Amino acid sequence: MPVRVAIAGKGGTGKTSFAAMLIRTLQEGTGGTILAVDADPNSNLHEALGIAVPRTVADVLEEVKTPGPPPAGMPKSQLIEYRLRSVLVETPRLDLLSMGTPEGPGCYCFPNDLIRHHLAALARDYDFLVVDNEAGMEHLSRRVAQDMDMTFVLSDATVRGLRTAGRIRALVDEIGLKPGRVWLVVNRVVDRRPLEEAIAATGLEVGGFIPDDKGVADLDLHGEPLARLPAGSPALQAVLAVATRAGLTDGRTSD
Ligand SMILES: Nc1ncnc2c1ncn2[C@@H]1O[C@H](COP(=O)(O)OP(=O)(O)OP(=O)(O)O)[C@@H](O)[C@H]1O
Ligand SMILES: [Mg+2]
Repeated sequence: MPVRVAIAGKGGTGKTSFAAMLIRTLQEGTGGTILAVDADPNSNLHEALGIAVPRTVADVLEEVKTPGPPPAGMPKSQLIEYRLRSVLVETPRLDLLSMGTPEGPGCYCFPNDLIRHHLAALARDYDFLVVDNEAGMEHLSRRVAQDMDMTFVLSDATVRGLRTAGRIRALVDEIGLKPGRVWLVVNRVVDRRPLEEAIAATGLEVGGFIPDDKGVADLDLHGEPLARLPAGSPALQAVLAVATRAGLTDGRTSD
């Protein structure tokens, strides 16, 4: 069974950047295999990781929805599983599945349940499952992977942002998700002192503070993957510290 890690938080707090840096940290700090899932319809985790994604799960759902002769004798569930595997982008020790944007009208509840089921089955082959979620609270309820071992709630370095992080935590409980151990990660921190009170008020366990790092913003500005961050990057170092505190790595990197 993999260690299942979710990343949540309001828009623009750095979820995708954190996910990409965490994945790199896991690649370099463990010998493990990783399944990364981009659960944001506006997929961009692949860009942060520098991996091309030709097709998404939403594309597969569209194909399954379109009436046509199914391959002889293949039940719909098996067909979805087969097609899910076909959209998985495989690289050494890191595979990526992008959910994509469901198009057109119609209820996706049935396929979403199936996807959830198949995703759990697929994830069993890996050491880590890392899910980058869509921004905002309302989407968490239809999150593709609901049963996690840990969730990192990202916040920007503002009092208002931290209040939102606290509300996200409450909502997770309200709608009955199983987030596992929940960690607050405050991103783009310049000075943490004015935030201490608001951090305590969230009631969340602090996973760590990621500094505002020009290297991260510059790579994003030029559409370059975060794999290009130098090993000494302050943000990357801070993500390593978070991963170590959360027990995901032992704090060392292999290269
Ligand atoms: N530690 C950091 N230092 C500097 N810039 C950062 C840092 N983390 C993220 N950014 C920048 O902040 C912006 C938003 O980051 P990102 O896309 O990771 O957020 P997000 O929460 O995934 O957004 P969305 O809600 O749209 O999915 C990007 O331009 C990114 O380069
Ligand atoms: Mg994002």
